[in-house]
Amino acid sequence: MKIDVKNLIEQAKKVRENAYAPYSKFKVGAAILAESGNVYTGVNVENVSFGLTVCAERNAIFNAVANGEKKFKAIAVVIDSGDDLAIPCGACRQVIYEFGKDIDVIMANASGKYEINKISELLPKAFSF
Ligand code: THU
Repeated sequence: MKIDVKNLIEQAKKVRENAYAPYSKFKVGAAILAESGNVYTGVNVENVSFGLTVCAERNAIFNAVANGEKKFKAIAVVIDSGDDLAIPCGACRQVIYEFGKDIDVIMANASGKYEINKISELLPKAFSF
């Protein structure tokens, strides 16, 4: 199955509108493509107790897992911050890696610009036991 990069970015861009980011005002959307062909989305959800915030990438993955998915091909992440691309934080990298070192991470912005790296490139020497 070929990855429809544009479509995945479009879904992440659309769901981003639902992000709950009243503190940072930094809205993030994510869409993950499972090997089944299904796509699951997530947004960042902040909290007045800042440390409780959960990133868009992890919410997308947890949503997919709750729906029975465990194998993934790619995850697109979108922000709207000028020319910048959405770069997953370290915690999210570890969570993406959990489901396969070959997952493509599509780092994008709302204008449609993007870069792709395998999660193993973004998280070399990942923790494992
Ligand atoms: N955020 C994400 O959703 N994904 C990332 O990979 C980095 C950061 C969110 C968390 C917080 O709501 C806001 O962006 C600013 O850090």
